[in-house]
Amino acid sequence: QRPVLRLLSCPGTVAEDLRRDEQPSGSKETGFEDKIPKKRFSEMQNERREQAQRTVLIHCPEKISEKKFLKYLSQHGSINNHFFYESFGLYAVVEFCQKESVRSLQNETHAPSKGMEVAIPFRSRFFNLKLKNQTSERSRVQMSNQLPPSSKKLFEVLCDAENIDDQLNTLLKEFQLTEENTKLRYLTCSLIEDIAAAYFPDCIVRPFGSSVNTFGKLGCDLDMFLDLNETRSLSTHKTSGNFLMEFQVKNVPSERIATQKILSVIGECLDNFSPGCVGVQKILNARCPLVRFSHQASGLQCDLTTNNRIALTSSELLYIYGALDSRVRALVFTVRCWARAHSLTSSIPGAWITNFSLTMMVIFFLQRRSPPILPTLDSLQTLADAEDKCIIESNNCTFVRDLNRIKPSENTETLELLLKEFFEYFGNFAFNKNSINIRQGREQNKPDSSPLYIQNPFETSLNISKNVNQSQLQKFVDLAQESTWILQQEHLDGPSISGNQPWGLVALLLPSGASRKSLGKKKSRKPANERIKVLLESIKSNRTENFTDTNGK
Ligand code: CTP
Ligand code: MG
Repeated sequence: QRPVLRLLSCPGTVAEDLRRDEQPSGSKETGFEDKIPKKRFSEMQNERREQAQRTVLIHCPEKISEKKFLKYLSQHGSINNHFFYESFGLYAVVEFCQKESVRSLQNETHAPSKGMEVAIPFRSRFFNLKLKNQTSERSRVQMSNQLPPSSKKLFEVLCDAENIDDQLNTLLKEFQLTEENTKLRYLTCSLIEDIAAAYFPDCIVRPFGSSVNTFGKLGCDLDMFLDLNETRSLSTHKTSGNFLMEFQVKNVPSERIATQKILSVIGECLDNFSPGCVGVQKILNARCPLVRFSHQASGLQCDLTTNNRIALTSSELLYIYGALDSRVRALVFTVRCWARAHSLTSSIPGAWITNFSLTMMVIFFLQRRSPPILPTLDSLQTLADAEDKCIIESNNCTFVRDLNRIKPSENTETLELLLKEFFEYFGNFAFNKNSINIRQGREQNKPDSSPLYIQNPFETSLNISKNVNQSQLQKFVDLAQESTWILQQEHLDGPSISGNQPWGLVALLLPSGASRKSLGKKKSRKPANERIKVLLESIKSNRTENFTDTNGK
């Protein structure tokens, strides 16, 4: 009998989106709650982008009356939605119903008078609200949380779960991007687009990567790319008669040089004119040139690239995989947290495995189940229609975009079983001779001697884990084997676990050596209180170092 895999009820989250858009017929056929959202990735992106264009970001005084604040802003038009959050000060995100309201607010806004300093007159959608009378406002507003849970809180909620399946779903619920956080990400892109539009009026700054592929954890970086395609395609359309009009342009020897020049200028603009963008670094000699900066007001670490349509396409593919079965995201989030807890991933670039590679490994594993939980990319390509046809830089990026055309899996395995089998599968994988390939969904001979070879699904001659060295791979394999063993013991020990004793997923997330020694002999664990002490010590106040750090790459 198929287990009931419930979508977690977290208001306004991706999970809710999935539920809202579910197909009415699905539940009758399968008696099963996880549904396929009807919304396509491009539709979702366009809606969010349009919403962000009607939205403003306001730095507020610490004590503010929400009612008066909204009344004041309503002078410019109706407000659709708003929330407050804290990030070195109090901020409000306010979404108007109409774009015109933003202009009206801008027209009424003053440039600050700052004594000795001179303001660069840039009319952005990022404002500073001041009180004329400091003492008049007293009330405090309700805050929307933008941070991942602390290790302590996570540990508590996981220990309270009913079983390991429940733990995986709880972890997903605690870490997934909230509706508000998603809005903040699209707004940040939209604010950067305003800057870039000064040079390229038709540009679009699109988020990609984990912010949009449904696998992002609270606190993950914001990958965005400057899409100039609209500008370029203008010249290829609309020819009439015998004439063809072209823009006069400057030419450079290669696409790469063009990218570097564009990013260099945008980087300068962000650094000099964009309020809230700090620590701007131009990393133009990387394989994929980028500008890295911190958007202080949103607390988001941003990577801006250009010409990154393939990465956007792989985000779309992951979005589809994440939506096909509710087990996928729970498993990916768990594996990402597990890898971070054991320092297999890191926020510093290096020879570590990345979250993107881990996600590919989970997808591949789910394609290998019997019956498969996820379809191969080749089969998604077979389901594509003419509208889905997509070739980017001569790479075939065609696959079905309409989620309703993909048949749900008949596999009924539990999350607990899948997690154990994931570790077992990769703990014994022949990495020395085989590569991972989600296009075909089967192992293939490695084309080169990289320790870990995961084929890029669209640029098929590239290995997405080329950076991983043998010792990092070995560490992954050792930890996977150890985790298989821990889960087997959990199974044998049965539900004897009581109180706050770390069990199931918590035992897996413990740093190696902390509790592992005590798990060395079956049924001879240290007393519960000692284990908790060790655990709390190991995670003590280390919010950003252990499994809650989500920016591990
Ligand atoms: N990407 C890629 N090939 C790589 C690395 C990244 O195609 N070798 C693309 C993927 O689409 C990926 C995106 O770039 O999703 C962003 O990369 P990164 O930020 O490293 O990964 P995320 O998926 O965003 O995960 P994280 O939460 O760690 O940021
Ligand atoms: Mg990212």
